[in-house]
Amino acid sequence: PNKVTNIACIGAGYVGGPTMAVIAQKCPHIKVTVVDINEKRIADWNDIDLSKLPVYEPGLDQVVAESRDRNLFFSTDVEGAIREAQMIFISVNTPTKTYGIGKGMAADLKYVELCARQIADVATEDKIIVEKSTLPVRTAQAIRTIMNAAPARPNSPSPAPRFTVLSNPEFLAEGTAVKDLHNPDRVLIGGEEDEDGQRAIEALATIYANWVPGERILTTRIWSSELSKLTANAFLAQRISSINALSALCEKTGADVDEVAHAIGTDSRIGPKFLKSSVGFGGSCFQKDILNLVYLCRHFNLPEVADYWEQVVKLNDYQKQRFAKQIIDTLFNTVSGKKIAFLGWAFKKDTNDTRESAAIYVADELLQDRAEIHIYDPKVPTERIYADLEYLQQHRRPQAVIADRAKQSDPPETLSSEAIRRLVHVHKTPYAAMEQAHAIAVLTEWDEFRTYDWQKIYDAMRKPAFVFDGRNILNREELNNIGFELQSIGRG
Ligand code: NAI
Repeated sequence: PNKVTNIACIGAGYVGGPTMAVIAQKCPHIKVTVVDINEKRIADWNDIDLSKLPVYEPGLDQVVAESRDRNLFFSTDVEGAIREAQMIFISVNTPTKTYGIGKGMAADLKYVELCARQIADVATEDKIIVEKSTLPVRTAQAIRTIMNAAPARPNSPSPAPRFTVLSNPEFLAEGTAVKDLHNPDRVLIGGEEDEDGQRAIEALATIYANWVPGERILTTRIWSSELSKLTANAFLAQRISSINALSALCEKTGADVDEVAHAIGTDSRIGPKFLKSSVGFGGSCFQKDILNLVYLCRHFNLPEVADYWEQVVKLNDYQKQRFAKQIIDTLFNTVSGKKIAFLGWAFKKDTNDTRESAAIYVADELLQDRAEIHIYDPKVPTERIYADLEYLQQHRRPQAVIADRAKQSDPPETLSSEAIRRLVHVHKTPYAAMEQAHAIAVLTEWDEFRTYDWQKIYDAMRKPAFVFDGRNILNREELNNIGFELQSIGRG
């Protein structure tokens, strides 16, 4: 009875789109429908031109091409998809709340709640509800309470449908989503211990078993599964903040953070991955999930635990500000009217996602000092860049302040859209962005940046030609020999 042949997924974003495309690819016997209220997004998922897909991920176009209109469908008919499906994934956004209680910290669950209510309103048969979104621990309880409180339908001959809630957090990393989905380190499924719960876990595990080895499918209690996702992101981000903290000390002492990272990474207890120092982490998840964890700890009256994790985010703010400040200091204490070229705007390479990208915050700091910023990114559309900067003006979070800033009493200025559009220029080619620049800042680690003709770039720049490598990807020796004034992260 639990053989699932029809799946719906609510939310066609960075998680819902790729995750469902891979399920459809690996399970041709299951019809998978991804729905979203955003009509433009759905139209883009259905575009015959695969370069128009709303999410850029290496290999995703091939996966979509293989199953789209075979057993993978993208639609705006949310209710129709809910009605048909035996299993419904909720993969909507869960941003940080920007209002009211928990503002700036707690996860905003309004989109998830709307989904739960809509499913309860529409469903006439039993459904398995799968939390794919990252949610605070104990959200499944709330979803179940909402769904089971739906009023009985007086005219319906059948008994009220039963809803079973599972937690199945997604561990994919953007930029390697398809690879991660094809070959996950593990799949985590949390469910209730009762019979319904166990049967639902079994049904979902059976789907993953089409391509994931059994020993990598972990099943847990539902709260453990919810908390594991927040914990995984907190640990990952903590590693980055740890190495970034030491990058500041390296710069003061003449040690080299890449050498230190390599030396400690060979210790098998530490391991080599995720020890790359940079301008700071970005992305929609790390900061949001840690703040959410901090909020939960405060809620449960664990202030020491909350403060411990909050420091990971504060250090990240510090790293971004430190980078911007270093640019200003080096350029003789002002960047006003100076042309600063940005290589990269996405929060990491191989994605078009810019949410919480360090580039946004660094640009904002430089704009406060009236720099002229010229940006090139291989995948991010121009309007996205303006939208990111405009959004930040309205949604500043109190940031950790570096010493010099703390002495200043002025809060950051809110820049008008006109000012942003006057000072920020987006280019179609990297060379145009860097021509006549006073300085170049590398904000994203796109591979192509290493392969540019750096002599040509040097010749077209103003001198001294400063380069601030926020990702430590450029060839130091080559650039120094050409004559650049190169500054790397974590190198005195
Ligand atoms: P996203 O913002 O790219 O996509 C969410 C989509 O849900 C949007 O297209 C939105 O229009 C749609 N939506 C919202 N409410 C809806 C409703 N009531 N009915 C239909 N559609 C609705 O978000 P993303 O990045 O895919 O993240 C989704 C969840 O997955 C979040 O909870 C996030 O924390 C989690 N996650 C994200 C990862 C990532 O790398 N982006 C990785 C792992 C988890």
